[in-house]
Amino acid sequence: MNIQIPDHIAAIKSYQPGKTIPQLREEYGWDRVAILWNNENTLGYSPKSKQAVIDAYDTINYYPDPASVDLKKALSKRLGKPENQIVLGNGSESVLMLAIRALCSGEDEFLTSEGGFVIIYNWARINNVRCVAMPMTQGYGFDLEAIKSRINRNTKVIYLANCNNPTGTGISKAELDNFMQHVPDHILVIVDEAYFEYSTALDPEFPNSLEMDYPNILTLRTFSKAYGIAGIRLGFGVGHEKIIEAMGKAKLTFEPTALAQAAGMGALNDDDFLKETIDNNTSGLKYFYKEFDRLGVKYVPSYGNFVMTVWKDRDQVMHVFDALMKRGVLVRPLYDPIAHCIRISVGRPEENEHCIEALGEVL
Ligand SMILES: Cc1ncc(COP(=O)(O)O)c(C=O)c1O
Repeated sequence: MNIQIPDHIAAIKSYQPGKTIPQLREEYGWDRVAILWNNENTLGYSPKSKQAVIDAYDTINYYPDPASVDLKKALSKRLGKPENQIVLGNGSESVLMLAIRALCSGEDEFLTSEGGFVIIYNWARINNVRCVAMPMTQGYGFDLEAIKSRINRNTKVIYLANCNNPTGTGISKAELDNFMQHVPDHILVIVDEAYFEYSTALDPEFPNSLEMDYPNILTLRTFSKAYGIAGIRLGFGVGHEKIIEAMGKAKLTFEPTALAQAAGMGALNDDDFLKETIDNNTSGLKYFYKEFDRLGVKYVPSYGNFVMTVWKDRDQVMHVFDALMKRGVLVRPLYDPIAHCIRISVGRPEENEHCIEALGEVL
């Protein structure tokens, strides 16, 4: 094959698919399993979302509404933002990709922190944008001072996750305000709030970047977490209309799909399911903290639907990971510079108990 793959694509490591859950189940012969490795909603999804998808199925011979008019209207009402300040995509990762694709070119740099959501680094690189990641604070948070000090004339986009996945750390309103006041307004600051519904339940003071008055903030939200429809792919961005218009131009015409738009409409109509999910998370985290304290497991308190546990070193991480896997508990060992940590998602009460029981045996 003689076709040259551009260097910036060739340099990216391919995704290495792991074994599927049915394959693992067969290999280990589990009689029960706790899937706590992807921060998914293990309570499921709203029946209203399911019904909306079933109803929409009858239209799948037609292309979806490319402007997602109904869903934008519903979101606009819920968020108190005009429709022209909202863009929808195949998950918030796609919306992040849209922002980079629409705004960055040439020498532009994407500035963020180490220890963040693992795919962000690739989305910058795939678009041939230099990605600069600053070290984290001692407490595994985004070091806003370090990020500020690294801004230069090439900086075009800054990415902050609030809360951050996988560390679970948050940025307070005062910290975010202070940061924004120091960032020149020609730099876009992406505030990824994938876990917002959980964060605000855990802390009523948790900042809502939609309420902050900065035209250079782009807020990302998703239906994959609290709304429970990760498999259908739906997320959105909210920002200045000029940014949203540019992102709309870079979007695949028929993204998101008709079924995703319908699922989102259904999900937005079910506050009972949302509340049940959030309550399950708040009590699940409390349970984990109590049990981790009892077992002597170190952890970082979280604003998400997961908690990062901290171990001695990588060997111990892999030992714990393997031993939990044998017992049907699936968790996520992390990567540099947090390769001594394991992220555990909050599941249903019986899954959380299964996890703690297995951890107790391992330790
Ligand atoms: C911080 C953060 N942002 C974005 C996403 C991606 O969400 P989506 O499923 O909407 O693409 C995740 C998923 O884990 C996440 O943790």
